[in-house]
Amino acid sequence: MTNREIREAFLNFFKSKNHQIVPSAPVVVKNDPTLMFTNAGMNQFKDFFLGEAQPKHSRIADTQRCLRVSGKHNDLEEVGIDTYHHTLFEMLGNWSFGDYFKKEAIEWAWELLTEVYKLDKDRLYVTIFEGDDSEGLVKDTEAYDFWKSWISEDRILLGNKKDNFWEMGETGPCGPCSEIHYDMRTEEERRTTPGQSLVNADHPQVIEIWNLVFMQFNRLKNGSLESLPAKHVDTGMGFERLVRAIQGKSSNYDTDVFQPMITFIAQKA
Ligand code: SER
Repeated sequence: MTNREIREAFLNFFKSKNHQIVPSAPVVVKNDPTLMFTNAGMNQFKDFFLGEAQPKHSRIADTQRCLRVSGKHNDLEEVGIDTYHHTLFEMLGNWSFGDYFKKEAIEWAWELLTEVYKLDKDRLYVTIFEGDDSEGLVKDTEAYDFWKSWISEDRILLGNKKDNFWEMGETGPCGPCSEIHYDMRTEEERRTTPGQSLVNADHPQVIEIWNLVFMQFNRLKNGSLESLPAKHVDTGMGFERLVRAIQGKSSNYDTDVFQPMITFIAQKA
């Protein structure tokens, strides 16, 4: 599939699950003093999560241009060093505002990746939140149990607050999350070292592709967590990483997202 087909397939898939497709919000954020640039697909929906505005549609999907160069989500130190972080990138996302929750979010993510994109099930790993005593947060056994219907238990790994509790910024909507990782190493490397040990370990060929956040809390200025009026889903998939996984490349820059541009510049240089 070309990158255009991959993007279309994402939007069509969620359209078929009754999601309204909306445009990407501007990269420069207006009306939110806590954020300068859009750093995630969910930013434009912040008020819906907090219960301060009502969405027209309870299910939305889109592809959002994001910039992670400052604040809580800052990838600047990674860009140009590894093969899978970018300053400006595209995030594919689906949202539920008080509608479906963990079961469908997990089931549809699995269906899209394995049946539409035909990613190799033996290369997929997922993580769930292990809980955090200091915050009074319990292990996400619900997500674990839903994943069990799709993937063998030795591929469901526990993750800590840093990797498996997503927060928009110092304040704002947040919740436990479940990440999906893809192992793109060679057969031989996979035989020698099990992929489990390389998830979230900065391995250049074992990378996170999708993050499913189960929005349940609002982080207040005083640092405490307040429960949101309703439970929501916020997912974000790195488009350039997904394209790389589907196209079987070892670097995001080798995909047809970047190659035409790189070739053009090389010819002109
Ligand atoms: N907001 C989450 C993230 O950026 C999921 O979309 O990872």
